Amino acid sequence: MKKLLFIPALLVSSSVLLFTSCGNTSTNPSMKLPVQNSSDSTTKNEAREDDKKATATSSSSLSQADAKTKTTQNLQAAFKGETTASAKYAAYSKKAEQEGFHQIALLFKAASTAENIHANNHKAVLQEMGAAAASVIPEFTVKSTKENLEDAIAGETYEATIMYPDFLNTANIAGEQLALISLNYAYKTEKKHRVMYETALTALQNNTLQSLPTVFYVCPTCGNTYETKAPARCGISMTFSEKFITINSL
Ligand SMILES: [Fe+2]
Ligand SMILES: [Fe+2]
Repeated sequence: MKKLLFIPALLVSSSVLLFTSCGNTSTNPSMKLPVQNSSDSTTKNEAREDDKKATATSSSSLSQADAKTKTTQNLQAAFKGETTASAKYAAYSKKAEQEGFHQIALLFKAASTAENIHANNHKAVLQEMGAAAASVIPEFTVKSTKENLEDAIAGETYEATIMYPDFLNTANIAGEQLALISLNYAYKTEKKHRVMYETALTALQNNTLQSLPTVFYVCPTCGNTYETKAPARCGISMTFSEKFITINSL
């Protein structure tokens, strides 16, 4: 089911992806800039977001064949990371609720839902590339909610600033369009998660938890996560908000 949702959306958003994330379109020189159909300002802003081009250079000297092999390995690593993050955040959600931090528990649940979507997308791409996703046994430690938030911020920061930019660079060299889309979905979402976790940690430290959102919306196509209010269509995958997953209870 996940795959059925994912693949059509890839076709819709592939031009947005290559324009916004992977500035280097050398693998598809005929690619045109996307036509923006939506009048929704949130969608426009996100689609036009000036993401910095991946800065990692470790993959820049790879041949296309080596980049393809490396992309398969990267997708396996990303699948493992997303699967672990989903399980970890679900556990962190329970811990937050136990400690009386309901809004933070909702945030962890929303992020857990998003990470599961990323894992399923990566798995679908691996299958399209003729590889099976290796089974994963999530390993993590649940600590206090403050420590769990710090851990989540560190994880999201790594993924958003190092891991996914590097993986996107390699997939771009490989010309693996589906991998680019799946990786970009996660990359863009992790950047938002990082900010949400930072805001939650600040609220926890300042005892202003009441200011945190009490409802989240998760796009089932790309995992994009919205607080409080969602636009008519997802700002990353253009999915209609009617399909969004609402997280307002545990
Ligand atoms: Fe993720
Ligand atoms: Fe995330």
